[in-house]
Parts: sequence; structure tokens; C-alpha cells
Amino acid sequence: PAFTVEVLPEIDSTNTELMRRARAGQLDPVLLVAERQSAGRGRLGRDWQSAAQDQQPNLTFSLGLPLALTDWSGLSLAVGLAVVQSLHADLRLKWPNDVWLDGRKLAGILIETASVGDVRYAVIGIGINIAPCDAEGLRTPPAALSELWPEATAPLVLTRVVLPLVHALRAFEREGFAPLRAAFHTRDLLYGHEVVCSDGLVGMARGVDASGALLVHTDQGLKKISSAEVSVRPT
Ligand code: BTN
Repeated sequence: PAFTVEVLPEIDSTNTELMRRARAGQLDPVLLVAERQSAGRGRLGRDWQSAAQDQQPNLTFSLGLPLALTDWSGLSLAVGLAVVQSLHADLRLKWPNDVWLDGRKLAGILIETASVGDVRYAVIGIGINIAPCDAEGLRTPPAALSELWPEATAPLVLTRVVLPLVHALRAFEREGFAPLRAAFHTRDLLYGHEVVCSDGLVGMARGVDASGALLVHTDQGLKKISSAEVSVRPT
């Protein structure tokens, strides 16, 4: 499908901007790229920091488009899978959709939706660390794509990711998450590891079900966790 491409030197957040536009009735497909975000947002109310002025910019963009889905639950996993598959065999997904390399986070995905009339407009925001950066205040330093791919630049990485992502979204609209489950398992960082969910539940991660819910084997049996509810950390 055709979509407009817009590149801005700076904005508060590409997700915030596309959500604003959607609420104002702009519901056409658009790819919005920012070289810098002044108020980048992550999942669960966290910040997403842009690289400092003197550092090489990381890739931050959002894809906004109307999506007709009956089941939205596996969407974030499908997006994460498209990102890792388009970039490198060594990348792993930490459920639901954090991209990790060698025990450190490389990329994050924030999906938001706006319902306007009959249309459900999805804003899929992706931030990918390209070059190593100062990581003050972070528990573990983030990973950067340049560790795997020294020539990586934001525009080059964008061209690698966008079309596979659009195709993955169209496939997801037709078929849902179930056909992606096996591919998710090959990239699953948590599988077989003990995890703690934000609601205090502790157990052994056992992959995902056909809707993308995380399966956790606990003392009280097998629990299904949907990404709307909790965050998960390996112990
Ligand atoms: C996370 O890991 O918590 C998600 C991070 C998502 C960051 C991207 S950068 C482009 C888009 N605009 C935002 O403000 N956030 C997303």
C-alpha cells in the first residue's frame, strides 16, 4: 500500500504526533521519521531517550495506518518479529516485543491505537539504537546495531526494516499471529528462563500460545499472560 514518508529533524515524539493527527482525522498511511525526539516515549509510561547532540542519531520512526484486525493481541509480537527478521540472525525478542542482543536491549516498540469513527488507526513506533551511546542511569548499557553491522546508519537501517514491516502487517491482517508462533519461538529470549511478572507472578517461561500470550509455568499451573497486563523480567 502507498504511504507518505516524512522526515523531521526534531519532534516531541513520532508516536505522539501521529496520534494527534489521527485524532484530528488524518487517517492515511504515513511513515514519520525523526532525527531526534525531545519527548520520546516507551512502553509502560517510560521515556525513550534520543542520542546526545554530538552522537550519531539513532533510528526513531512511527508507521501509522488503519488496521482491520479481529484480534489485536499478537500484533506487537508480529511487529517485533518483522524487525528482528529484517535485521540480523543474532537478535532475540524479549516478550512481548523488546529486541535484544547479547543480554542488552537494542530496540523498543510502542504500539498505540486511536479509534476514529469506524476506523482503528494503529501507530507503530520503533526505536533502534544504531551507535553506542552514553547510558547514564540505565541498569545495563544498551546494545547498538553497529556492533553487528559497522556501516549501519539510521537511513540504511530504515530501508531494511520498513517494507518487511508493512508486509508483515498485511499478513497479520489476513492470518493473525498463529502462523508466526514457530518463528517467534526461535527468537524467544525468555523461553526456559525463570521470569517475574510485574504482578508478582514467578515461573518458568514456556513460549507463547497461538494468540501471542506468554505461557508461564508456575506453582499454580500454566498461566497465560497478555501483554496489556504486565511486564516481565528474567530473574
Ligand atoms: C519501549 O521499549 O518501551 C518502546 C520504545 C519505543 C520508542 C519509539 S521511538 C519512535 C516512537 N516514538 C516514540 O515516542 N516512541 C517510539
